[in-house]
Amino acid sequence: MTSRLEVDRTQGATSQDLSIVSQFSEREPERYLLHSRHLNEMMVRVLKTIGYDVGFCSGTGQYLFDRAGVRYLDLLSGWGVFGVGRNHPKLRDALTSVLAADLPNLVQMDVSPLAGILAEKLLQYTPYLDKVLFANSGAEAVEASIKLARKATGRSGLVYCTHAFHGLSYGALSLNGDNNFRDGFGPLLPHCSQVPFNDLAALDEALATRQVAAFIVEPVQGKGVNLPDDDYLPGAQELCRRYGTLLIADEIQTGLGRTGRFLAIEHWGVEPDIVLLSKTLSGGHVPVAAVLARKWIFGKVFDRMDRAVVHGLTFAGNDLAMAAGLATLEVLETERLIENAARLGTRLLTALREMASRYEMVREVRGKGLMIGIEFGQPRSLRLRASWSLLEAISTGLFCQLITIPLCQNHWILAQVAGHASHTVKLLPALVISEQDCDWIERSFDAVIADSHRVPGGVWSLGMTLARNARNAISEVND
Ligand SMILES: Cc1ncc(COP(=O)(O)O)c(C=O)c1O
Repeated sequence: MTSRLEVDRTQGATSQDLSIVSQFSEREPERYLLHSRHLNEMMVRVLKTIGYDVGFCSGTGQYLFDRAGVRYLDLLSGWGVFGVGRNHPKLRDALTSVLAADLPNLVQMDVSPLAGILAEKLLQYTPYLDKVLFANSGAEAVEASIKLARKATGRSGLVYCTHAFHGLSYGALSLNGDNNFRDGFGPLLPHCSQVPFNDLAALDEALATRQVAAFIVEPVQGKGVNLPDDDYLPGAQELCRRYGTLLIADEIQTGLGRTGRFLAIEHWGVEPDIVLLSKTLSGGHVPVAAVLARKWIFGKVFDRMDRAVVHGLTFAGNDLAMAAGLATLEVLETERLIENAARLGTRLLTALREMASRYEMVREVRGKGLMIGIEFGQPRSLRLRASWSLLEAISTGLFCQLITIPLCQNHWILAQVAGHASHTVKLLPALVISEQDCDWIERSFDAVIADSHRVPGGVWSLGMTLARNARNAISEVND
């Protein structure tokens, strides 16, 4: 199979391109060494332990290709940034045309036409919102929303959910529902309190203090792929309105079609005060995020000329990011990718649920559109229970690696475990996947899950190897 690198070389990329692309191919074999030496060595150890160190060399659409040209189906999609797939030609055209046009990017003491157009387009999807503030990443959008909510309401409280993930900068980390991310980084932002996800009574109690500026929630939680009951989000909206709290929907992962609607919140007919977008909006090329909000909230923050720049970011709204956003929306519409996510998501959920009924360790298959979780749980039969308990005793959630590792090694599918100590394997493919890809997914998960129910068997001997590695790693840390 011809890799993208070879294609670039034969099709006459510019000499400047060529030197960077040549550096990639010449030094690609050293990538793990370079990272161990100069970047995050632990990441390299993780990749080697789970056998993901195959050295991906190119990517297109929903696929990645390793050094040998082997094609992998990518169900990580770069934590969700490749909604429209990798290296989409329309994205490339949009970005190269902007680069070639000598546009007056980032003048700062001017306003950008492209930012105006992208804001106008985004607001067409949320007619109840009026204003947009751009940022460069999900966490930056979360930080901006915290500031908007506090200033607009004059309150300091922030309420977030158990298992929430809103990013890892300080404000966002203060709203993180997993201590694994928080431990050792305190003190975090004051006046942040956690409520159980999907619990309206707890939310009522938290908001009734009338000191809460905002309740921030992911309509479908990324960590664990947790879905709310049907009355939860409408109920949360009602409580927020009753107590004067702003409702912030973090749609950074769920937005732009991921769940089969433009926003996940649309499944429940909710109209938040602030909506956060990022990931897919980038087209997988240029980091970008957007905070969509009601006019009065903006009015409270940008309330005088001398406060026109009271919040902002140097690179926000840059031309390449805006072009990526505009081209992404165009691709979502012309290729009907939101409809594709809804249709193939329903197909996968139905097929995986049918499959799950045949396996005692599959507890639940849940999801919306192309955001799907397969949760595993303790088996009933004694023969499996002993092996399960042994793995769990070493590291909670280790069992899921017995699914993701063979998926990659034997079926060329990349999937992830949905969070620390999680028993859920998550599927987050590009929205461009096809019926054939669904066949591939269904066939492979069935084979791997069937293997995991055979004791003794190949999967469980892998489990014992992982257990040994984990034990060694623990004793190294203790040394
Ligand atoms: C729901 C949600 N919010 C916020 C973020 C943070 O985005 P970023 O990593 O771009 O800061 C993420 C990232 O995974 C996310 O899934």
